[in-house]
Amino acid sequence: MDDKNLTQEQLIEWDRRFLWHPFTPMKSWMEKADPLIIVRGQGEFLFDLQGRRYIDGVSSLWCNVHGHGVKELDEAVRTQLNAIAHSTLLGLGNVPSIVLAKRLIDIAPAGLTRVFYSDDGSTAVEVACKMAFQYWRNVGQAQRTRFIAFHDAYHGDTLGAVSLGGIPAFHQVYQPLCFPVDRVAAPRLAAFSGLNAAVQESLGAQETLAPTWIPQMESLLARRPGQYVGIVVEPVIQGAGGMVMHPPGTLQRLRQFADAHDLLLICDEVLTGFGRTGRMFACDHENITPDLMCLSKGLTGGYMPLGATLTTDRIFAAFYADPKLGKTFYHGHTFTGHPLACAVAIASLDLFEQNRLLNQVATLAPVLWQQLNPLRDLRHVMDVRQTGLVAAIDIARDRRTGERFPAHWRVGGALCTAMRRRGVLLRPLADTLVIMPPLTIGLESLAQLTDAVVESVQMVEDIALHCEETNP
Ligand SMILES: Cc1ncc(COP(=O)(O)O)c(C=O)c1O
Repeated sequence: MDDKNLTQEQLIEWDRRFLWHPFTPMKSWMEKADPLIIVRGQGEFLFDLQGRRYIDGVSSLWCNVHGHGVKELDEAVRTQLNAIAHSTLLGLGNVPSIVLAKRLIDIAPAGLTRVFYSDDGSTAVEVACKMAFQYWRNVGQAQRTRFIAFHDAYHGDTLGAVSLGGIPAFHQVYQPLCFPVDRVAAPRLAAFSGLNAAVQESLGAQETLAPTWIPQMESLLARRPGQYVGIVVEPVIQGAGGMVMHPPGTLQRLRQFADAHDLLLICDEVLTGFGRTGRMFACDHENITPDLMCLSKGLTGGYMPLGATLTTDRIFAAFYADPKLGKTFYHGHTFTGHPLACAVAIASLDLFEQNRLLNQVATLAPVLWQQLNPLRDLRHVMDVRQTGLVAAIDIARDRRTGERFPAHWRVGGALCTAMRRRGVLLRPLADTLVIMPPLTIGLESLAQLTDAVVESVQMVEDIALHCEETNP
């Protein structure tokens, strides 16, 4: 079958008939008049079947780093393909997985010394979770079975990750299948504050909301002494929970809690890793080393699925024993350490250095902050916050009371649909708009992106009215 000449109508019809899209209410999807089908990408742009160009404003779900169609990354895949596409890591080695492990340890927070590969963000978290749990069994503390995590946390969709997750709309239904997790409130910056260094300087001291999570953490630890495996956190930014940004100092405080109670600190850097927050890893903002660190998304520059869980000598040593002692970590996937994915990840790390990408983020972040300024005066904007090249804008029906638009109106979605006409693709988290472009976005595109956001938010009343009429 020659599928090169398929028409747009045919593809849309097959999509509607044969596909089930992730995280998508399929009834709404079927009713969409004009679903977008992407055929090509170049730099920060995506192109649809009709050749229309869009700025990829959320980095293809928070993972694209260097843009699309990057010569060096394409070449790395081709070169590896000429050698071999895949061979297993169970009982064998492969060259790119070895080289990448060394490169990751070179740049990871000091003290992380081992890399365990998996397939994506969820499985990187699953590995951390099982490794942490088994660690305590291996060292003779089997009574440690519970985890502490944050409200509004998101760690992926496999069941361990769902157990750790704290977003009712996504996780509630699966509770009977999950292990118990104790939760504390998400630490939050006060409204209208930003975190990146340049912004901090211009604002003076950071305002932060009262850290209610600290007394909650203290009371949990007092109630169940010696029973916790560890604390799991999305460091600096809790992504899917609404781009909740933590006040500076939170990570250090977490590290102190973990040390004081001999808990493992598990940092899920699936979203924050690889430059997104302005540092290579979010942990670098506060110079802490977690006991386990989960990576994916930007690990391959957003080109291919790959997960990695990094850990310390202390954890590794607890599994390093004669097989008959039953301490082995019996976990792994068919495609663990996939050579193509590892090869492109190595090339991505090379580009970080060659293009001085972290400097680029330091230059762009204040520009983005400035460009989002006009939003702060708009009646329906409750908060604008930013860390590195991640910005979030909360839309409210009444910003003084914090009243949101009815969820089923899907105002955030309608705003993003309106932006498509301006050549910008965003995906909201309910009524929070998220801006997270590739780190290499050009100044002109950044301005087009933020203009589209400002213009659409200015029309939010008309858009909400339309939403009310179509989804009463
Ligand atoms: C912090 C965090 N952890 C884990 C995941 C899950 O990653 P994946 O979708 O690759 O399984 C995500 C995905 O958005 C995430 O943001």
